Amino acid sequence: MKKFSILFACLVVTVLSLACAVSLQAADDALTIQITSTKAPQNCELCHSTGTAGIVNQFHNSAMFTNGGVTCVDCHGDHHADKTSAPTVDTCAKCHQDKVDDYMAGKHSKAWDAMINCPVSTVSSDVLTGLANGMKGCNQCHTVGVIPNDQIAAKGITSDVNPCDTCHVRHQFSAEQAKDPETCAQCHIGFDHPQYEMWTDSAMGTAWKAGVGGPSCQDCHMVDGTHNNITAWGFLGLRYPESDEAWLADRVEILKSIGVFANGDFTDRLNGYVAKYDVARLTEESFNTLYAQEKKNCQRCHSASYVETQFKAAETVLKQADDMMAEAIDIVIKLHEDGLIVNNEGWTYNPDLLYFFESDSTVDDELFKMFLSYRNRAFQSAFHMNADYTYWYGISAMGESLNKIKEIDANLRADKGTGTPVFTYIALAVAIIALTVAAFALLKKKA
Ligand code: HEC
Ligand code: HEC
Ligand code: HEC
Ligand code: HEC
Ligand code: HEC
Ligand code: HEC
Ligand code: HEC
Ligand code: HEC
Repeated sequence: MKKFSILFACLVVTVLSLACAVSLQAADDALTIQITSTKAPQNCELCHSTGTAGIVNQFHNSAMFTNGGVTCVDCHGDHHADKTSAPTVDTCAKCHQDKVDDYMAGKHSKAWDAMINCPVSTVSSDVLTGLANGMKGCNQCHTVGVIPNDQIAAKGITSDVNPCDTCHVRHQFSAEQAKDPETCAQCHIGFDHPQYEMWTDSAMGTAWKAGVGGPSCQDCHMVDGTHNNITAWGFLGLRYPESDEAWLADRVEILKSIGVFANGDFTDRLNGYVAKYDVARLTEESFNTLYAQEKKNCQRCHSASYVETQFKAAETVLKQADDMMAEAIDIVIKLHEDGLIVNNEGWTYNPDLLYFFESDSTVDDELFKMFLSYRNRAFQSAFHMNADYTYWYGISAMGESLNKIKEIDANLRADKGTGTPVFTYIALAVAIIALTVAAFALLKKKA
């Protein structure tokens, strides 16, 4: 009797599982048919409201859903088989062409190209800088730029291809959320561009957080909701031409250190990289237009003369930083020229700061830190009113680097000079012998 019940139970389980499998298969077929044949949003939500409930809830809070009647299908298409082709900037352009045009005119749109074509990307691992799926390095921040379609296809990239959702995080895609400086803090932090840290502890950040009239990042960089973020000095704090002659001489040294100027002339990198991705303002007009606009922005809350004083003071900080930088670069170039530190294999220019930390020499590394971290902090904070960064993390850290480089230079040259003391000893010995002989001769004569 006991044996029979076990057998019966097994039979029931088997029949039931078979039936389930069949009905699940049928349901799946039916759903596939529904999805591919209709644009009704509930078909996606049928599964996704339980499968990925967070996504559906976020989207239901979005203005696009509540006011705009937009559905999953509008961005993802109605073919679930295509679920791996993520919505790109072209998807958003279908309904927001004006914002996309605006964004394309600014620097965020160029972020991917500027990163992937940076010399360091040719030697770094694909995972960090390149076209690997998953975005775990430089690429994670630089997806604020447009990844060209052929690159997406070539590497079969299936995610992080939409630049708009870096600020308007999905799936609520809120304008209000994007207005919070925390949004910018995802990327504008840390080693070489800590604008968020500078702003948040400045008087203006304090005034914004307290709600007493201070400006947010967006108030200065996205005035009236414009999406074409760009500044006059840019990330590298460079401009060309330059009317101040002493400053121009220092600038030329800096251009040498990034492989843009060599043997008395500009290199191919000027047009092939710097101009192509708008890395620096290369005409007086483009610089002055942006500069004037930036000053005007401040005048919504400050007097013209106050603002002029602030910009002049910030320029003085940058000029001082460039002077220190030029001195360090000159030393390191000569160390390479004199063969006292190794030239990096395969590099056309030594040093070349656009190879970041990939150098074979700790002297190059120190110069890189001085340039990209300390110099950036000094001038960026001068424009973001944070004196702590200007001096302690900026100018004073540059001074420390400069001292280290000078000391290494002196030591390397002293080491190389081990030949000189031998000559000195020989010369000394000859002199002593000559003197002794002369003294004997004199004594003999006297005697
Ligand atoms: C039959 C249930 C079902 C329906 C209906 C459905 N999905 Fe899915 N969808 C899934 C499942 C399950 C996954 C997860 C697959 C996985 O984990 O790889 C998924 C994954 C996705 C992904 C992510 C793909 C990826 O690789 O990250 C997207 C996008 C997506 N669905 C969009 C949609 C859209 C748009 C619709 C409506 C047109 C829809 N889905 C309808 C079940 C469904
Ligand atoms: C089918 C058309 C359509 C597509 C495609 C579309 N949108 Fe929208 N979007 C709308 C409409 C309509 C509104 C306006 C809703 C309203 O009136 O508030 C809107 C509003 C917005 C807003 C403002 C939200 C707010 O809080 O006020 C943002 C941000 C936005 N969309 C971003 C995007 C992004 C990013 C994409 C691409 C991933 C995209 N949209 C794709 C139609 C679309
Ligand atoms: C934490 C986010 C983040 C990471 C990681 C990151 N970047 Fe950036 N990168 C930025 C931001 C933000 C800027 C713009 C800063 C500014 O203008 O002050 C920038 C600027 C640049 C620029 C200058 C572009 C121009 O036109 O001015 C280059 C080149 C660059 N990054 C390359 C890289 C490379 C290569 C890596 C990896 C080794 C990397 N970045 C890692 C956020 C990041
Ligand atoms: C306004 C456009 C838009 C709408 C509407 C939209 N999505 Fe998305 N969705 C995106 C974007 C952009 C991404 C990210 C693409 C990328 O990887 O760059 C994404 C990614 C996804 C992913 C994969 C990434 C993840 O986080 O797992 C799923 C799943 C998904 N969407 C489901 C849905 C569902 C379900 C709906 C409807 C409830 C929906 N989406 C509505 C734009 C949209
Ligand atoms: C650097 C961050 C950032 C990026 C990247 C970004 N946005 Fe925005 N977006 C904002 C901010 C901030 C606002 C709010 C502006 C305001 O109202 O002052 C906004 C507002 C909007 C609005 C609402 C406009 C209105 O008049 O209400 C739309 C639509 C929009 N963005 C679409 C897009 C699209 C499409 C993209 C991709 C091309 C994009 N955004 C990329 C920050 C960003
Ligand atoms: C996902 C990362 C990311 C987010 C989020 C982001 N940025 Fe950026 N931003 C970058 C990168 C990378 C660059 C450099 C692009 C280039 O120059 O090629 C950049 C460049 C800029 C520039 C131009 C600097 C120059 O060289 O002239 C400004 C201004 C700027 N961002 C402001 C903002 C503001 C304001 C926000 C927030 C509303 C923001 N960014 C959000 C990554 C980001
Ligand atoms: C009071 C206005 C103001 C605020 C607030 C502000 N900035 Fe700036 N920002 C400036 C000025 C001025 C410059 C230098 C402009 C130039 O190069 O001509 C600048 C430059 C930049 C640059 C280019 C590199 C640099 O630092 O010189 C980036 C990127 C940037 N800001 C991002 C941000 C982010 C992110 C925030 C918020 C965390 C922010 N800014 C807050 C005024 C502001
Ligand atoms: C939306 C209004 C607003 C804008 C725009 C604005 N500021 Fe301010 N700023 C303030 C407020 C509020 C304070 C705090 C006043 C105080 O320190 O008592 C402040 C403070 C300052 C301070 C004093 C910092 C300190 O530590 O004492 C300087 C310098 C300054 N701003 C320069 C600028 C410059 C330069 C610009 C343009 C790049 C600018 N501001 C744009 C509102 C603004």
